[in-house]
Amino acid sequence: MRRSSSAPLFSHWEDGPQGRGYSGSLLGDSFVLTRSRCGRLAAASPFRGGQDAPRRPHSQDGCVTLHLLMRHKHSDYMHWSKTQSRARINLATSGVASFPLHELPVNVKDLEINGDNSYGYAPLQEAIAAHHGVDPECVVESAGTSMANHLAVAAIIEPGDEVLIEHPAYGPILDIARYLQANVRRFARAEENGWTVDPAEVRRCITPKTRLIVITNLHNPTSALTAESVLRETGDIARSVGALVLVDEVYLDAVYEGTPRTSFHLGPEFVVTSSLTKVYGVSGLRCGWILAQPDLAWKMRYLNDLYSATPVHPGELLSVAAFQHLDLLRERAHRIVDADRNVLREFLARQSAISAVWTDWGTTSFVKLRDGNADIFLERLRAEFDTSAVPGRFFQMPDHFRVGMGVNTEMFAEGLDRVSRALARETA
Ligand SMILES: Cc1ncc(COP(=O)(O)O)c(C=O)c1O
Repeated sequence: MRRSSSAPLFSHWEDGPQGRGYSGSLLGDSFVLTRSRCGRLAAASPFRGGQDAPRRPHSQDGCVTLHLLMRHKHSDYMHWSKTQSRARINLATSGVASFPLHELPVNVKDLEINGDNSYGYAPLQEAIAAHHGVDPECVVESAGTSMANHLAVAAIIEPGDEVLIEHPAYGPILDIARYLQANVRRFARAEENGWTVDPAEVRRCITPKTRLIVITNLHNPTSALTAESVLRETGDIARSVGALVLVDEVYLDAVYEGTPRTSFHLGPEFVVTSSLTKVYGVSGLRCGWILAQPDLAWKMRYLNDLYSATPVHPGELLSVAAFQHLDLLRERAHRIVDADRNVLREFLARQSAISAVWTDWGTTSFVKLRDGNADIFLERLRAEFDTSAVPGRFFQMPDHFRVGMGVNTEMFAEGLDRVSRALARETA
């Protein structure tokens, strides 16, 4: 593809589920696709025609067709999160407060720099396996859930394979699929149904070419919990076309009471990713993992030889210690998340300009702005109230924004108060 300095580069065409208009962005430029009644797609500004224009996408039934012209190699969300999410009052979090090293009952003198960990450190693999009640052969260590998702998708699909991903979705999951040159289709999780996964919608969107269905449970950004019966049905649908189901369970343990077991137990179609990063406050350990059938697990380990190769051993030792004291980490997080959720409940009850589907668990809430554009609102919130939250566009829902619980209740309450004042100024 010829590149000129002024023309935006498009890596993909995509539309939202059920024909909804959908916006994407490329290398800093953004575009919007809309579908007319007859099903034709049109791109709005700053689209340019001519040689740099992407081919007209082919779309059959209101789901998504993705055409790659060049390979996608970045994540808008990660870049935003690393460079623009900070403010004095930070509601743009998704994980709980950092658990301090000095509170972890571990003797730093017991740490070692090198260890026997070529394809994983056995005590850590055993700790992860015991946590989930699975065979250690099914556990693949990874650098956080980010690398876990990448390894899982990369080991399962080939370029051009169809991947069916929930909508809304955590942006980097789409980025991984795009980078791996998947043909991405979307299935809708509807707000009016509490953002639940609807097996009928999955069935409507799956095709004989689908190789992988991707779900987050809890759902990021909404914290909706998918029931085991629905996951089981989704597994049946996947099996009917020879596909697998990837369930990202990084937030699942934020169901503090009656935590559901991992969906890995539901059958060989299930591949699960998770980590200690979000719910336990030890993100810096980058302790992540994949649960997969042994053959597939080995494919992922061999693939990881091309990426992070060998894990960081002091991190593995500290992760084993974290698993030994997981209740301590969990209780601390639970207290803060619960306190924040109470503040959120009272806050939402007082608001008329925003709403959110309520969940009794999870570290995030996805707030709908009844009128207006969340990007513009969040820019003002940041500029005038020094408060940040995550724009819904990173979940392909530009009229929403995400707030995070579990860091500091005083800050959370102050942040919601500032949101409230910013909303009042909008309507004044
Ligand atoms: C659904 C989901 N998966 C994966 C990740 C990445 O997690 P980690 O920090 O373990 O790499 C996140 C981070 O926000 C996430 O929300």
